[in-house]
Order: sequence, then structure tokens, then C-alpha cells
Amino acid sequence: MAILKIARMGHPVLMDKAQPVEDPTDPRIHGLIADMVETMADAPGIGLAAPQVHVPLRIVVLRVPGERCEDGKDVPLTALINPVITPLSEEMEEDWEGCLSVPAMTGRVPRYTHIRYSAHGPDGKTFEREAKGYHARVVQHECDHLDGIIYPMRMTDLSTFGFVEEMSRAPRTQVEPATDTEDGEAA
Ligand code: NI
Repeated sequence: MAILKIARMGHPVLMDKAQPVEDPTDPRIHGLIADMVETMADAPGIGLAAPQVHVPLRIVVLRVPGERCEDGKDVPLTALINPVITPLSEEMEEDWEGCLSVPAMTGRVPRYTHIRYSAHGPDGKTFEREAKGYHARVVQHECDHLDGIIYPMRMTDLSTFGFVEEMSRAPRTQVEPATDTEDGEAA
């Protein structure tokens, strides 16, 4: 296992479409996933996509703590290989995001509130989950990395984009009531 170097916004590997994984059971893929998990834990982050560690393959790892989820349940450590997202509602909602590839910054990003996603696991089997709220947001953020999209490219109001340290100064009347303020989670 190894902690991998994280690419930052502007690096070409983050701007390209990543390639599908041909064999999810390949030990080299399992080794990469293990390194991604270690890198995510070290950062720390709640999600990481392979292009963020300079590997242009369609792989995401995530682990979402229960306190961030509507149902209070942890989303366990999961590897998504070749994931596909289907929105289950037209409804979108804005909330704060951060990204390990855009360090120290945060911004408000619209995302679908309710999705289904399917992927191959490292065992090669396909699995499917429904996700709402923050869980759905994390999956959309990570899967965007597989298509060369970084969250600022999804923002509709760049006045909410800035350094976490500066944005957390009160008052933030132009942006959001202070009670809505929370630091962007790095993903
Ligand atoms: Ni990210």
C-alpha cells in the first residue's frame, strides 16, 4: 500500500475522460484501490476518484459518515468500478463542496437530490444502490471526476466560490445565513 500524490485542478489528468476498467478482478486494480483508500484516509477525504491520483481509469472510492446522511447510516467503504448514475428525480439542491484537487477552497454546487448508481465491485459483480442528499452528492462529485469535471465547473454562482478560511468569516450575508455555513468536505 502507498499514499499517492493527488493531482490539483489544472493538471491534464483531471480534465480528460477516464477509461473503463476492463477487468475489475485484476490484482493491479485491487492494488490501485487499496492505495486510493489509503490516500483518501490520509488526506483525509470522504471520496476519491482515480484521475485524482493520476490514473485515468473509471474507479471511485468513498466512505460517507452517517452523521452526514439523511438516515444517519454510514455508507461503508466502497469501491465503484465503471460507475453509472441515473437521476431518480429532476430535483436539484445546492450545497457546499470541497475537493482534494482544489485544496482549501469551497463553493456551492447544484446536484440531483435522489439518484441510483450501479458499478462493478472488485469481485467483478455488479451492484446497485439508491442515494439521497449528501450521499448522492458525493457520488455525483466523484463520478464527475471520471468525465473531467471538477465541481467549480458545475457552479452557477461563483460568488460562493472561495477559500474556506475566508468564507468562514462572519458575516456572510451576501452568500448564506451563517447558520447554513459549513466547511466544504474534501472529496
Ligand atoms: Ni473532488
